[in-house]
Amino acid sequence: MLGNFSYKNATKLYFGEDSLKFLNEELPKYGKNVVLIYGGGSIKKNGIYEAVIEILKQNGKKVAEDAGVMPNPTIEKVREGVKIAKAHKADLLLAVGGGSCCDYAKVISASVHCDEDPWEKYFLRNEKTIEKIVPVGCVLTMAGTGSEMNAGAVITNRETHQKLGHGFGEEAVPRFSILNPRFTMSLPKWQMVAGIYDIFCHICEQYFSGEDDNVSDDLAEALMKSVVRNSLVAVENPEDYVARSNIMWAATWALNTLISRGKKTDWMVHKLGHAVSAYTDATHGMTLAAVSLPYYKIILPYGLHKFKQFAINVWGVNPAGKSDTEIANEGLTKMEKWMKQIGVALHTSELGVTEDMIEGLADATFVIDGGYKRLTRDEVLKVFRESL
Ligand code: NZQ
Ligand code: ZN
Repeated sequence: MLGNFSYKNATKLYFGEDSLKFLNEELPKYGKNVVLIYGGGSIKKNGIYEAVIEILKQNGKKVAEDAGVMPNPTIEKVREGVKIAKAHKADLLLAVGGGSCCDYAKVISASVHCDEDPWEKYFLRNEKTIEKIVPVGCVLTMAGTGSEMNAGAVITNRETHQKLGHGFGEEAVPRFSILNPRFTMSLPKWQMVAGIYDIFCHICEQYFSGEDDNVSDDLAEALMKSVVRNSLVAVENPEDYVARSNIMWAATWALNTLISRGKKTDWMVHKLGHAVSAYTDATHGMTLAAVSLPYYKIILPYGLHKFKQFAINVWGVNPAGKSDTEIANEGLTKMEKWMKQIGVALHTSELGVTEDMIEGLADATFVIDGGYKRLTRDEVLKVFRESL
């Protein structure tokens, strides 16, 4: 059964090899002043920067650049970005990059006309988005977060070792996102794989919760199978357009709120992973990969029916003659094998975590309800010890 829900997604998507040209359709809808938001320079190496600048010029836009958005964007950078957008009287924030640029743009969007500090207001006090925002558009260069079609943004405070997410109002969701799978092909393999695991994990976070038979979980299983199948092709041949395009589209649907409709969700793997990033600045998807299995082993007995269903429906485990626990564990074993095949980090030590950080990591972990079991502090410590 599905619970009651509402569903709206306001982002217009343009998908495919020719999708950048649709920027010409979107730009005239906004005023003259555009802030072009991008990261550490990959878009200058792969030609996306020139292509976007050319279209902005053709459309008569006055462009200010806000470059250097880092992976795991920091609140200090956000505060600088707010100043740039204010000084330029921004009519549109155009994020060109991965989830970090897109998340960052949403926070700027909701902070330009706000007198309060965004960290305090949105991330610590979790308050509603102010009414007057600056619209966001996105040209996505990395598949993973789903930020291109959702309201979420995750920001790091390096001083306090906190990495926190906030769901902004629907106004701050990108008005449009351009998804060209070819743009993702210049990603280093490590980043591609981190993105792939992030997608898989988003689906798991929404799947491993609740008891009921529902279409959201059926969709989740189909998406998981697609991600696994296409990931194996992409790892073998990163230039495979079919695989890269399927991965990019699956990423969007994995986290645009569709598969969480009418059901409970977990998100504890993300909370554990964010603690790792807050300490080490490690790549998001890899932090999730390193903590997932120790976490799932703890909650498996409490969500046995779902782990059994996962093993059979997603991993093709043959249930004949096996106990439910054996079936469920075999599913996790197959998942681990796949993780090794694609080459994700299975240990936080690969990401810079050391034993002396474990208590601090537990302190930085925001424990939430929603999954099959609320973790105790000892269990959080166990996940971090076992993932080391
Ligand atoms: O900075 P540049 O030079 O662009 O390089 C980036 C960065 O180093 C590079 N890259 C991106 N596209 C590329 C490319 N390099 C070559 N060719 C390309 N086409 O990849 C690196 C990682 O980019 P980033 O944007 O940080 O990655 P991702 O998309 O994984 O975003 C991660 C951020 O999103 C948050 C994460 O916590 C993290 O801060 N998340 C946002 C979510 C959301 N909005 O719903 C949910 C997620 O769970 C996640 O928490
Ligand atoms: Zn994620």
